[in-house]
Amino acid sequence: MPSTFRALLAEGARRAYNTALKDLPEDALPGGDVLVEVACSSLNYKDGLAVTGRGDIIRRFPMVCGIDLAGTVIDSRVPDFKPGDGVLAVGQGLGETEWGGYSQRARVAASALVPVPPGLSLQQAMAIGTAGFTAMLSLMALEHHGIRPGEREMLVTGAGGGVGSVAVALLAARGYTVAASTGRPELHDYLRGLGAVTIVDRATLAQKPPPLASERWAGGVDSVGGPTLASVLAATAAHGAVAACGLAGGVEVPTTVMPFILRNVALLGVNSVQAPKPLRLEAWSRLARELPRDKLERMTSVEPLSKIKELSDRILAGQIRGRVVVDVNA
Ligand SMILES: NC(=O)c1ccc[n+]([C@@H]2O[C@H](COP(=O)([O-])OP(=O)(O)OC[C@H]3O[C@@H](n4cnc5c(N)ncnc54)[C@H](OP(=O)(O)O)[C@@H]3O)[C@@H](O)[C@H]2O)c1
Repeated sequence: MPSTFRALLAEGARRAYNTALKDLPEDALPGGDVLVEVACSSLNYKDGLAVTGRGDIIRRFPMVCGIDLAGTVIDSRVPDFKPGDGVLAVGQGLGETEWGGYSQRARVAASALVPVPPGLSLQQAMAIGTAGFTAMLSLMALEHHGIRPGEREMLVTGAGGGVGSVAVALLAARGYTVAASTGRPELHDYLRGLGAVTIVDRATLAQKPPPLASERWAGGVDSVGGPTLASVLAATAAHGAVAACGLAGGVEVPTTVMPFILRNVALLGVNSVQAPKPLRLEAWSRLARELPRDKLERMTSVEPLSKIKELSDRILAGQIRGRVVVDVNA
């Protein structure tokens, strides 16, 4: 075990901090149940906000950034995990209140970890990461509400991004007819390859909609928020539901009560960060079983931690396609 490890450290105070790669001594790691040799992390929108300081994400300093990690247990104080086990964590305060995954080492509370499910490599687990986990939570929320595959299309917004790409692939694999909304014409073939049948120009959803529009969607997974979410709600058919998980296009939703009281449309909130352990275990087990590996591979690229600042700028600019695995050893 090296006596030092490399990590992306944020130092300073809320709204006034710098991030830089640092070599830290092993004993700098905070206390925790399980010592993990991290293999990889991933790039999420929230990581972009934290690394660039453009969002109020980090709650404690100094902080190791990175809301996801996957790696191998080196040492454990709890019987649930033993040296050699493959583990992953997404959210659970990593990179916000607890040192996160942009690091070659992490010491993590056992409650934050889940075993990497059989059939997934550490790299595949991070190709899924928070974004893919959130897409599965969205699918599970829709199913729980009774939305089943049928003739009407399910709309995924922000489809070229991480949550959106996994949502398209998962919904299609489950038998839903998927419409994908994107602002990038160059991604149309990519989205069709993931299983989208229809492509919707995101500009058509980005304007404030009328209170109700023609009933078009069975439901949706929305990673954009703002007027886009209002547009999806206004065109969702009676008894449909929309899982709202993102804000890439804004936080204020100019909607009315009409979709709710005249069409029984349901708005389902999704928060991946505090998902309780039984839900996390179920979601990861389903991701391992249901997400087609060829599609996961097609949507994933691997980048070195040394490029994290550039990658963070690119995800906030909406320039990342699909998912990025971050190799913490490169
Ligand atoms: N609730 C949760 O627990 C949870 C978990 C994960 C992520 N999220 C949120 O979900 C969102 C997506 O996360 P991500 O990691 O998938 O990010 P991402 O990879 O950057 O995807 C976001 C996508 O949204 C679209 N977009 C970007 N800016 C937009 C704008 N101004 N107007 C309309 N569309 C825009 C782009 O898709 P196109 O280019 O295809 O149009 C972009 O690729 C973020 O807001 C993130 O904070 C929430």
